[in-house]
Amino acid sequence: MKSAFKALGLLGGVLLATLASAQTAPAPHGWPVFSYQGVLTDKDTLKYNPTDEFIFPGVFHAGAHLGDPLGEWYLYYAPHDDPGGISLMYAESLDGPWTEYANNPVIKNVWKPNYSVPHVSSADPIWNKEAGRLFVYFHGSNSQTRWAETDDGVKFDYGGPAVDNKMGGANVTESSYARVFPHPDKKSGYAYGMFYMGNEKDNVRRIRLAESVDGRTWVVDPDYVVEPGLEEGANVSGADLWKWKGKHYVVYHASSGNSYARTIDKTLRKVGSLPILLHQSSGVGEDVGRVASPEIVTFRGKTYLFYESGDRLGATIAWAKAI
Ligand SMILES: *[C@@H]1O[C@H](CO)[C@@H](O)[C@H](O)[C@H]1NC(C)=O
Ligand SMILES: *[C@@H]1O[C@H](CO)[C@@H](O)[C@H](O)[C@H]1NC(C)=O
Ligand SMILES: *[C@@H]1O[C@H](CO)[C@@H](O)[C@H](O)[C@H]1NC(C)=O
Repeated sequence: MKSAFKALGLLGGVLLATLASAQTAPAPHGWPVFSYQGVLTDKDTLKYNPTDEFIFPGVFHAGAHLGDPLGEWYLYYAPHDDPGGISLMYAESLDGPWTEYANNPVIKNVWKPNYSVPHVSSADPIWNKEAGRLFVYFHGSNSQTRWAETDDGVKFDYGGPAVDNKMGGANVTESSYARVFPHPDKKSGYAYGMFYMGNEKDNVRRIRLAESVDGRTWVVDPDYVVEPGLEEGANVSGADLWKWKGKHYVVYHASSGNSYARTIDKTLRKVGSLPILLHQSSGVGEDVGRVASPEIVTFRGKTYLFYESGDRLGATIAWAKAI
């Protein structure tokens, strides 16, 4: 009798474990495991720190594109809350050390005469080959993603609005947290793709797709890229396109506090139905809590993850390395 109950209990346990794992897809062979390295935004020493929280790292290989940059690598980041302000740190190596730019923020919430908004945040830098300039996309406020252009990464010309609520359809209430990448489908006629977060009247945050020939004028696809499932919870956001071992993934974070990846095809329209776990905090030492806004950079055979660590309104920028 006793052992029969024991067997039943075991079966129940296996069943539960199977149900839980059925919400995620298994990691492909050779999937990176990211090992925590530390915090980049030291809140006690940063000169520009209006709200004691920082989000959304965006890394740019300045040495590959800019003449005489401050450092080989630029990392843009920003406070989330008002007034925000796109900020810059730079380093000679992705391993650091990082130096805060002396005159942050480089893009402010008031840019006369073009706009005045409560905050600007979530900067994503990308070299625009056709323009021969660095484009930085950012939101301000939540209803609009804008861009600015620069030759040195510090002094910007205002570009204009890239995507706004209206472009996403009648239910959209927020259009923010965009990342832009070279379009993987050369046959599409588009040179750039963008994933961004669309919030809607139902208060569910989904990943949307926009495409552009020149990085300035954007067309929003009517279909969602990622809708949150059982594993993710109510919101998904902070998406980027990532290529790993010849396959494309959309990587993003979710209400669960973890970051995920789903397979996606070149057209950016066929998306895997289950998320693969990309990153979660280890729970050891200061590597605890939510992880978000994954920015993965592979350089000379080493893969780095820059991300947002901690509560949404008390976050900091951290980094990890693939082992
Ligand atoms: C920003 O304002 C300047 C000065 O009025 C104007 O020339 C420029 O076209 C504006 N930029 C955009 C993108 O609206
Ligand atoms: C807006 O939301 C309503 C209610 O969920 C839905 O019926 C309608 O199709 C949505 N419209 C668009 C354009 O997505
Ligand atoms: C979804 O996101 C909003 C805004 O960040 C937040 O207020 C809300 O609590 C989130 N919902 C869940 C279930 O995490």
